This record gives sequence, structure tokens and C-alpha cells, in this order.
Amino acid sequence: MSSSIHFPVNDPNFYAGDPYPTYKRLRENDPVHWNTDEEIWCLTKLGDVQDVSKDPSRFRSGDGVLLNDKYREVAPGESILSTDPPDHRQLRKLVHRAFSRKRIAAMEGRIRSLVVELLAPVEAGQEVDFVEAVSLPLPILVIAELMGIPSEDRERFAVWSDAVIGAAEGQTPEIMGKVIELLGYLREIVEQRRKQPGDDLVSVVLETRVNGERLSEPELLVFCMALLVAGNETTRTLLSNGMHALAENPDQVALLVGDQSLVAQAVEEMLRYDAPIQSFTRTTSESVTIRGQVIEAGQRVLLLYGAANRDADEFGVTSEEFRISRKPGQHVAFGWGEHYCLGASLARLEGEVALQEIFRRFGEVQSAGPIERQPGTLVRGVKKLPLVFS
Ligand code: HEM
Repeated sequence: MSSSIHFPVNDPNFYAGDPYPTYKRLRENDPVHWNTDEEIWCLTKLGDVQDVSKDPSRFRSGDGVLLNDKYREVAPGESILSTDPPDHRQLRKLVHRAFSRKRIAAMEGRIRSLVVELLAPVEAGQEVDFVEAVSLPLPILVIAELMGIPSEDRERFAVWSDAVIGAAEGQTPEIMGKVIELLGYLREIVEQRRKQPGDDLVSVVLETRVNGERLSEPELLVFCMALLVAGNETTRTLLSNGMHALAENPDQVALLVGDQSLVAQAVEEMLRYDAPIQSFTRTTSESVTIRGQVIEAGQRVLLLYGAANRDADEFGVTSEEFRISRKPGQHVAFGWGEHYCLGASLARLEGEVALQEIFRRFGEVQSAGPIERQPGTLVRGVKKLPLVFS
């Protein structure tokens, strides 16, 4: 069914504004919305997004998972994100091993020292751009550390990984040039680790076998790229959106400062309230029916995580409010089911350590100017977040 609700699904500025009133209208009036401009079904109810994510045989990822994949060639198996079972299970096992609970937990001390270092120049009463000071550098430093990237290369690494995210919006020659540079650099890293293995992720993956075989060089490069892209701007956005929400809700800051055991819950609420990734897509392999609406085989479906995370059927009448004392419900900021985010525990750990260290030093945070958002259809990103801590 096509409704009169105006949802400019492919307008990057729509997500940089306030998409939530439109999401609410869609959830309440047209939860299986046919978007005529993009020819895509848009799902906004939490249960629907979860059901589709659990059903990879009828809702495939292999034809691409980005809204804009329609406009680019998606090579099969291009990344773990756009791979379907049974191959997907094999790849997932591999990444799972590389991201074992033990390996992530072992990162805590290092993440804490990075956060403390980044916070050191931040002074009480002085305006700081939180994106530049903390949320941009932290995830890059953490992933670079995990992959064993030398510290002198980390700035270039940051520019390249931004370019790869930019490629989701459109592939300009400049962006593609950067992506090629990054691939060349990763090739060097892989070669070097082949000769001199360490205990970094790249070395672990080099040693791992899938179906008894080692990964080929292209597979390895794609794997490294996927890690880099998946964990970088997403975690940056979690930190920025989360601090923005806290700055807008001083009562919630007071709650957190008064009871640091709420830190883990606060991170869940940050993820739920303003989902870093707004959506991914699927393509149907057969005709399916959702809420009485028939979706033909081969049609595209948009899973709107940002909308589903405000569903009042799951989160109650306060679903549009930021409340860190909320019992963590089943939000879909990390997706659900088959492709559930493999970096979720790392992102959570970064969020928790950042909150602990910030509120160990400061008791209040306030906005020092308007937030500047980064237009985009995939990530509800932040360019600048002026804050004052005291
Ligand atoms: C707050 C930060 C993050 C958010 C919001 C996020 C979000 C997501 C979402 C929504 C998916 C599901 C994709 C789908 O269903 O098609 C996903 C998958 C994935 N994420 Fe994350 N992610 C975050 C951080 C990370 C980090 C830190 C890493 C690794 C360093 C990572 C690695 C991955 C990988 C490898 C997948 C693919 C899993 C698969 O296809 O089976 N993510 N992420």
C-alpha cells in the first residue's frame, strides 16, 4: 500500500534533520510502507524488523544491504554483510573467533588509557568539540590497535576509512581513489604479517581456516576493510549521539553521575534512542506477506532500525524519550538474528569506558552550540558537537 506520508527515503538531509516524527507516522499508520520513489518496502515496527532479520532464506542480503546498492554493482560475497547462508555461517565463525569475548575483554585497559589520554586536554568550563576530541579518534585508535596498524599511519587510516563509508552514498573518483589506496596499504600490512605474525587480528585471521582452507588474499583484504568500515563511523556516532542526548537531558546525567552502575544501561539507551545506523536492506527470494501486505519475490525491503527502536509496543509510552533507567528492551541498533553485529561487544565496551571516564572527571555536561550533523542515508552521523563539561 502506498500512503500519503511523505518519506524522502533517499534524501541524506532527511536523516540529518529530525526523522523521528515521520518514523512515528509510518509506524502508526503505514508500517509496511511502499516507497514509490525508491521502489522499496519500508518496515518501521520492531517485531517486523526482527522477523525479517531472522529469515535470511526469504530475505536475502546477497543482492546488497545498502539503500544505494541499487545504484552500484554488488559483487556476490563482497563482504560478510552481503553474504547469505551457508557461506555466511563460515565467514561468521571466522570473525567470531577473531572477536572472542576474551580478546575484547583484554582490550579494556588499553581502551581506558586511550580515553584518559583523549580527555586529558579537555578542561572544565571550556568549550570542546566532542567529535574531534573523543568520538572520532577513539574508535579509529581502537581498531588500528586491534589490527596492529603502526601509530604513524593512523591519520591516513582515518581518512581512508571515512572514504569507504562515503562510498556507500556515492562513488566519486576521489572516494574510489582513497578506497584503492587503502586496499594497497592493507595488502602491505597482510604481507608483513605473513612474514612476521603477531597477536593482532590480521595475524589471527591469516592463521584461521574456513572449510580447512586459509582465506585468499582478496578475501583477507575484504575482511580487513569490513572491520574497518563496520566499526569506525558507527562507534563514533554512538558516542556523539549519546553525548548529545545526555547534554539535552541533564536529569539523566545527574542519574548517571549518582549511580555509575547505570553505565551499561545508559549505553543501551544511547543506541536505542538515536541509532547510529538508520537502516539496512534485504531482497525477497519469494513472495511473502507482512501484516497482510503481499511483497513480491525480488522486491527490496528496508529495515528502519532508527524507527523500530522507538516502537511504543516494545518501549511503552515513553519510547520517544531518552531515559537511561529504562529496562533495556530488545532494540535493533546492532541488527538482529543472522547478521547481528559482530562488533557489538567492542562498541559497547568503548561506550561504557568512555562514559565511566568522562563522569569520573566531570559532573555535568551542557551543549555549547548547535550540533552539526553529517547528511547521509546510512549513518545518522555528527560532524560537530560543541559541549562544555563542568
Ligand atoms: C555502535 C557501533 C555499531 C553499530 C550501531 C553497528 C551496527 C551493525 C548492524 C545494524 C549490523 C547488522 C547488519 C545487517 O543485518 O545487515 C552490523 C553488522 C556487523 N558489524 Fe556492526 N555496528 C557497530 C560496531 C561494530 C564494530 C566495532 C565492529 C567491528 C570492529 C562491527 C562489525 C560488524 C560486522 C563484521 C558485521 C556483519 C555481521 C554479519 O554480516 O554477520 N560493528 N553492525
